[in-house]
Amino acid sequence: MNIAVLASHGGSDLQAIIDACRSNRINAKVCAVISNNSGSFALQRARDNGIPAFHLSIKTAKTADALESEILATLANTNTQFIFLAGYLKKLGTSILKTYKNRVFNIHPSLLPKYGGKGMYGLNIHEAVLAANETETGITIHRVDSEYDTGSIIAQTKVPVKPNDTPESLAARVLEREHSFIIETLEKIIKELNMNPYKQCPTYETQSFIIRLVKEEDAQDLLSCYSDPKAQALFNIDGFPHDCKFNSSEEMLKYIKFWLKEYAQEAYVRFSIIEKSTNKAIGTIEMFGMVGRYKTDPGILRVDIASVYENEVYLKEIFDICITNFHSLFEVKTITTKAPPIATTRIQVLHEAGFKPHIYNGKEHYYSHSN
Ligand code: GRF
Repeated sequence: MNIAVLASHGGSDLQAIIDACRSNRINAKVCAVISNNSGSFALQRARDNGIPAFHLSIKTAKTADALESEILATLANTNTQFIFLAGYLKKLGTSILKTYKNRVFNIHPSLLPKYGGKGMYGLNIHEAVLAANETETGITIHRVDSEYDTGSIIAQTKVPVKPNDTPESLAARVLEREHSFIIETLEKIIKELNMNPYKQCPTYETQSFIIRLVKEEDAQDLLSCYSDPKAQALFNIDGFPHDCKFNSSEEMLKYIKFWLKEYAQEAYVRFSIIEKSTNKAIGTIEMFGMVGRYKTDPGILRVDIASVYENEVYLKEIFDICITNFHSLFEVKTITTKAPPIATTRIQVLHEAGFKPHIYNGKEHYYSHSN
């Protein structure tokens, strides 16, 4: 899995992650290191280890919105699958948190909710722990939300406070423990994220289906294993940076637009259609865009459904989705399907949307839009 690590200073936690990836202790790769601080040693560690390093800050981007877009684009370009904040002192923008929902983690050197929040960083935390005469402190790894240190806790471990501790000695003991704790916890996080690889793809749910974006090269396999659940598990969706569940078709369209803008050279999108009741992939929806290598065939929407699922209700629902969502976005000129046009409902749905049926090759059917 591709992890982007964001860090503002020394990056010793980052180094622990890099080393664990190298030694295959965790099944992951640091695909990007982003820092708001051009002089941070974290960036140097990234360069020393051949990892793409990015200095992105309000100084370079000028506005908060521009910075957020730059970070998001960097995460997408490096195929980031989840984000780990290892001493990153800035808040992440809402679009990043939304795009990587439940996939942004932070490490904090105290037992949250104690000693967290604004101003609780660096030695401030350990000074506060000592001032309160705590006998133990610890480390928390939690999901990130829009506030400092308030997201749901994933793991915690305790570290003793010793009688003669200074803030510095306590900080050093906690940091040392962080280096192993971060890896123990990452192992768990990665295992969980890997359990259902489909979880990593953007999805859109309808009454009967889950429509899931599929990486282009994996889509070929999909065609040959519609109904084999084991084969589904083989799909590697590394290429998709975003993990989000669309709550509405508008959201999905927004995402696709963004995706096409970012990857305009491809302009080709493929979804798999997964039947909810059986969790089987039953078909694909492919869109051919206006630019790039598919530019000779723009505006084609291809719908392929395994013949066993060609019942009228399903097809109506699928065509409805295609027409209501994709037609407006893509100015779909042609909808093709291998299924013979025996189902009256599906013709009706297409007909109502202004598509006329044709037969191609005696086998494939296509419906072209009258405009
Ligand atoms: C760690 O103490 C971490 O818990 C906190 O920032 C510090 C980062 O240390 N969020 P380093 O830069 O990785 O050495």
